[in-house]
Amino acid sequence: MTTLIKSGTLITAAETFQADILIEGEKIALIGENLAAPEGAEVIDASGKLVMPGGVDAHTHFDLPMAGTVSSDDHYTGHKAAAFGGVTTVIDFVSQDTSPLLKNVEMYHEKADARAAIDFSAHMNITRWDEQVEREIPDLLDEGITSVKVFTAYTMRLPDGALMEVMRTARSLGMVTLLHAENGDVIDLLVKEALEQGHLTPEWHALTRPSWGAVEAVLRGSALAAQAGGAPLYIVHMNAAGEVDMLEYARSRGLPVMGETCPQYLFFTVDDLRKPDGAKWVCSPPMRTKEDNERLWRGLEQGTIQVVGTDHCPFFFDGTQAIDYEGEKVAIPGKELGKDNFTKIPNGLPGVGDRLPILWTTGVVSGRITPNQFVALNCTNPARIFGLYPQKGALLPGSDADILIWDPERKVKYGVNVAQHRTDYNLYEGWELTGFRDKVLLRGKVIVDGDEWLGKPGGGRFVRRAPYAPVL
Ligand code: URP
Ligand code: ZN
Ligand code: ZN
Repeated sequence: MTTLIKSGTLITAAETFQADILIEGEKIALIGENLAAPEGAEVIDASGKLVMPGGVDAHTHFDLPMAGTVSSDDHYTGHKAAAFGGVTTVIDFVSQDTSPLLKNVEMYHEKADARAAIDFSAHMNITRWDEQVEREIPDLLDEGITSVKVFTAYTMRLPDGALMEVMRTARSLGMVTLLHAENGDVIDLLVKEALEQGHLTPEWHALTRPSWGAVEAVLRGSALAAQAGGAPLYIVHMNAAGEVDMLEYARSRGLPVMGETCPQYLFFTVDDLRKPDGAKWVCSPPMRTKEDNERLWRGLEQGTIQVVGTDHCPFFFDGTQAIDYEGEKVAIPGKELGKDNFTKIPNGLPGVGDRLPILWTTGVVSGRITPNQFVALNCTNPARIFGLYPQKGALLPGSDADILIWDPERKVKYGVNVAQHRTDYNLYEGWELTGFRDKVLLRGKVIVDGDEWLGKPGGGRFVRRAPYAPVL
């Protein structure tokens, strides 16, 4: 199939220009001015519209078992919501259990492949470390998995020596290590004390996970990466001002450390957890303060932070009440599991479809970041860091024709009925947005047209990623 996207304003991470895009099959064939439509080509008129690479979200958790339930978007419903939010590639996570890593990867494919509606990959969680696991890490490269995630919190955290060994092994293979940075020992102590004192409300989720732990863990991770021979490190879901300071410090010392924040950390604070429906904001790491929001914004503006991801991990607010989803009633246990005890609230939020529309209005329309920074943060940088570029995250001849056509004039009152996540709430309820997706193409096929869904389960494909991606 041949498609010509005519008269749009192309926005890449580096430049903005008027051009047409010719798509042959799944790939961009040509970019230029006044391209003629080949016979039989479908022509999309993009005049007045902006044309960008499809979004890449490097941090999602679909179908993730947690706290006696499961995240409420699976690999189909989450991909569909992502597509409606302008995203064409997601990178999710493979959980590690006691099986060999390749078995975990195989189990992941069994859940994801047939449901996938956009292109996807996965990072490998390393939550158990011994010589056998170390020997298995190279197997991941054969599977096209070139990144591993480690934790300094949750029961699955590793001790510092193991963290350093993971980073050293990953570095030797051209892999990136992702770090969830909090202090698990301190959190365990504070949670125990809070429960003993009868503190059970959602705000205590935040109060027992202080930002000092996150700050300290970013510095610790950076120091371990340095001692692992300069291992590439990517700090996920940055949430605290001091983390940005530590990232800045690490980078000023020439360390290959990169960072990601998520929209929720740019807008919300611990005060949101104090509301009657505060459980909606419970995620780990937690929301902080207005000063933290502001420092994270500056980190994005100044390029200290390279990526905006979402950490999409949705749960129903009230999973006892069904919602309509594609003509069916669906109810999945959610935040109500922790209504009497904050430690039982499943951690996580919806977000995969919110990132681009929310950041366009609050970042670009407000003048905080340029359209090119928007593309860099949401599309190109995550593709580059995780070995997807230039197949993904780029408008270049030879790249996959994953294209987002954006209507900068469209005004939308955002909320749960606009976002397509399979859950019963949205954090940005009632927000007035200017600029919204018009069409989304996945490898040359229109999968979202206006408000119409044209994608399908199995329409997405697992993307094998390259090692030795550049450190940005
Ligand atoms: O609350 C969150 N973020 N849940 C997902 C797991 C994680 O740590 O990213
Ligand atoms: Zn995490
Ligand atoms: Zn996460």
